[in-house]
Amino acid sequence: MCGVIGYTGDGRRDAAAILLRGLHRLEYRGYDSAGIAVHADGGIVTRKLAGRVPDLQELLALQPLHGVSGIAHTRWATHGAPTSRNAHPHMDCDERIAVVHNGIIENADTLRRALEGCGHTFRTDTDTETLAHLIEDSPGETVEARVIAALEHVVGTYGLAVMSADEPGKIVAARQGSPLLLGIGDGEYFVASDASAIIEYTRSVVHLDDGDIAVLTPQGYHIFDRESHVQLRPVDDVTWDLESIELGGYSHFMQKEIFEQADTVRSTLRGRLVFEEGVARLNGLNLTPEDCDGIDRITIVACGTSWHSGLVGRQIIESLAQIPVAVEYASEYRYRRPLAARNTLTIAISQSGETADTLQAMRAARAAGSRVVGIVNVVGSTIARESDGGIYLHAGPEIGVASTKAFTSQIVTLALLGVYLGHQRGLLPLAARQEFLCRLAQLPTLVARVLALEPDVRRLAEEFVHARNALYLGRGVNFPVALEGALKLKEISYIHAEGYPAAEMKHGPIALIDEEMPVVFLAPHDEVYTKVVSNMQEVRARGGRIIAITTEGNGDLGTLVEHQLRVPATAPLLSPVLTVIPLQLLAYHIAVLRGCDVDRPRNLAKSVTVE
Ligand code: AGP
Repeated sequence: MCGVIGYTGDGRRDAAAILLRGLHRLEYRGYDSAGIAVHADGGIVTRKLAGRVPDLQELLALQPLHGVSGIAHTRWATHGAPTSRNAHPHMDCDERIAVVHNGIIENADTLRRALEGCGHTFRTDTDTETLAHLIEDSPGETVEARVIAALEHVVGTYGLAVMSADEPGKIVAARQGSPLLLGIGDGEYFVASDASAIIEYTRSVVHLDDGDIAVLTPQGYHIFDRESHVQLRPVDDVTWDLESIELGGYSHFMQKEIFEQADTVRSTLRGRLVFEEGVARLNGLNLTPEDCDGIDRITIVACGTSWHSGLVGRQIIESLAQIPVAVEYASEYRYRRPLAARNTLTIAISQSGETADTLQAMRAARAAGSRVVGIVNVVGSTIARESDGGIYLHAGPEIGVASTKAFTSQIVTLALLGVYLGHQRGLLPLAARQEFLCRLAQLPTLVARVLALEPDVRRLAEEFVHARNALYLGRGVNFPVALEGALKLKEISYIHAEGYPAAEMKHGPIALIDEEMPVVFLAPHDEVYTKVVSNMQEVRARGGRIIAITTEGNGDLGTLVEHQLRVPATAPLLSPVLTVIPLQLLAYHIAVLRGCDVDRPRNLAKSVTVE
């Protein structure tokens, strides 16, 4: 949830400048405090504060730092309030060791008591400071030897970078549970939580595995395991470019990513639609026809927006492949000792590919005998590397904390998987497959038409900007869209909102309805449309203010609703790809009008790498 970066070079570049630029790129991972340390003046010099990276930049303008190697951090607080004192880097007693860390040291309290017992003085309330004192207390000629010795005592997760005043130019990195990669340059080396921090300097990255210890110097890098055995790791090439992590003229990444969806849906489909044979080509899935035949049931594990796409995926897969699908909150599933069986396929859905609960749920399913596949956006992420097969979204980097383009690409990917399994199990006749693939192929054009509704949505936002609550209602595949619409509004505008199955409203939430309550109905023309209209009448009868997302050409909602937005018709199972977009835009514009920090909503972070 924090962003970690480290750099060492041959002096051609200033480490402080590189570290600061990297922190700007990593800020979506956590943004309540930030800090930097460089080797300078024969020791280690640090600057840190509570606040955003631009605040640290201002501090550095007043108190400049320069050096050839250093480490830096942007924080999402877990242990210790987001104050300047608790900001990283953390130092040992003599300020000769500096540490930045992403993760949680679960036995920090025990270690702290032991270290305080033998004379160490702590300055902060963080778990991370324990590491600095532990390294200080550990034997070894080199900082990497002391790091290895210290980590023997640590229980928890970490992606960390360490530097010692005694070995200028050397950065030591270690990974256990939190993402960390190396950047390989020409005479310079980087360590970072993800590639966005270093892509402007190199595209060559090495993903570290759990248990890896890396040593970077201007002369090169080495990777060891805890027994100091050399580890060889492949050098991968980052496929996306710097432009994709720039705003490109938009006001916010969320806005940019909403408007990228015609292209991102197209890129998710690229090379995967084989019309003649009516098949979906999913080469990375690693599922043979026999494997597909042998699947008795599917379990989807995910969190947040990815869980919502899983709910849509359930309906699509059950309909196209007739396999029962359970959709589980990963955080609950992992502690339930899953009863997965050999013939259960577990699908882990995650944009970042690093969400700790989803990763652990996937590992729990595998331990229970299930085959696991990942539906992931970030190439080379842990879930992608640990699953038996998978499907990449190819939606490009998603920087806005509120997930948007990943959601629509996840649904399209699950639809491709539904066709794939339906075909492999011989359940979906050629014509039906070809028809569905055609509908998929039309989606990018239809998405572009929905995006043209933005001016209407902005006007709606102006009307509901002062709402204190909101209710989102839908049926069938659009019930999860109601959940997603409510989540978007909650997470970026801080308005309390709930999503519900429209029929469920009568069993309680209808008590909330009054003249103040905006009620957003998902009402595309599908098999449950008339039922949704009856639910609208129940809300109308109690004075609720109805906004309806319905299908182009639908003229019969008349006075029943206050506002309606019409999206193009498509296959009913695919309608969520279109109906969700006005809800993304509505949340976006309400948040902008309320002056909220849309890309960095309070208390949130883009990739939840701790439990
Ligand atoms: C969605 O807008 C949120 N950022 C959050 O709910 C997110 O979907 C969740 O943390 C799962 O992330 P993942 O897809 O990267 O695993």
